[in-house]
Amino acid sequence: MTGRVAGKKAFITGAAQGLGQAAAQALAAEGAKVTLADINHDGVKAAAAAINAEHGEGTAFALPLDVTREDQWIYALEEADAAMGGISVLLNNAGVSRGGDIEQLSYEDWKFVMSVNVDSVFLGTKHALKYMRHAQPGSIINISSIAGLIAAHNSPAYNASKAAVWLLSKGIALHCAKQGLDIRSNSIHPTFVDTPILDPLRQRFGKEEAESKLARQVPLGRIGAPSDIANAVLYLASDESRFMTGAELKLDGGISAM
Ligand SMILES: NC(=O)c1ccc[n+]([C@@H]2O[C@H](COP(=O)([O-])OP(=O)(O)OC[C@H]3O[C@@H](n4cnc5c(N)ncnc54)[C@H](O)[C@@H]3O)[C@@H](O)[C@H]2O)c1
Repeated sequence: MTGRVAGKKAFITGAAQGLGQAAAQALAAEGAKVTLADINHDGVKAAAAAINAEHGEGTAFALPLDVTREDQWIYALEEADAAMGGISVLLNNAGVSRGGDIEQLSYEDWKFVMSVNVDSVFLGTKHALKYMRHAQPGSIINISSIAGLIAAHNSPAYNASKAAVWLLSKGIALHCAKQGLDIRSNSIHPTFVDTPILDPLRQRFGKEEAESKLARQVPLGRIGAPSDIANAVLYLASDESRFMTGAELKLDGGISAM
């Protein structure tokens, strides 16, 4: 087997579409086995089948998972460990957003966003380490956002949840290091990327206007492509990043440099 992540076994949440699906495809193309987990079970079954059609049966597996449910995490990780023969990479990617400023946002929406974006990383990491310690070197990759480092007036839950993921990633890195584990933990902070997460905005302003509105906020003058983020995942999943832990990769087209 060849490839930058040959022999790696990756568990990916939110892999039915968007960044999770793109990361699964990129990891499989570079030699990893991948388990695609999502609340959208039909979606991950289709995405895994497409990967297997390209790279051979037994490359990709699909599992149902609501990342807010501890019982489902325990089941899914056990299944993935058995299917892939271990887990060496955990990509905590599933995430949601809800609009509304601090006065408008409902408490239900606040709790929903915090639960999907933050509880997921806590639960997934807590239960995956049991398997990952037997498949070192390992890598935990958490998809935060540039919105976890820079606030907006109308995204209190999304900002707070992604900031929590940022620091949680560092705490996990230090825990693993202190335990003497060769398991790293880092966060990725994208700005706007062309995935279905942008659909509400596209519906509101029309596709072209929505995307150019976003692109105008980015010094590079465009929104990101899913492959831009998948390439960073590849680097963090591979042993090329063996000395990188507790760090953040900002993939924001220059926004945070301003
Ligand atoms: N696309 C962007 O502009 C952008 C920018 C910065 C950060 N991000 C982050 O990247 C990650 C992926 O975003 P995306 O753009 O691919 O989004 P997306 O909406 O296209 O995909 C998200 C996936 O997560 C799944 N999901 C949602 N709730 C879940 C749950 N409870 N359990 C399991 N799966 C669940 C969905 O079914 C979907 O397949 C998210 O964490 C998002 O916050 C995205």
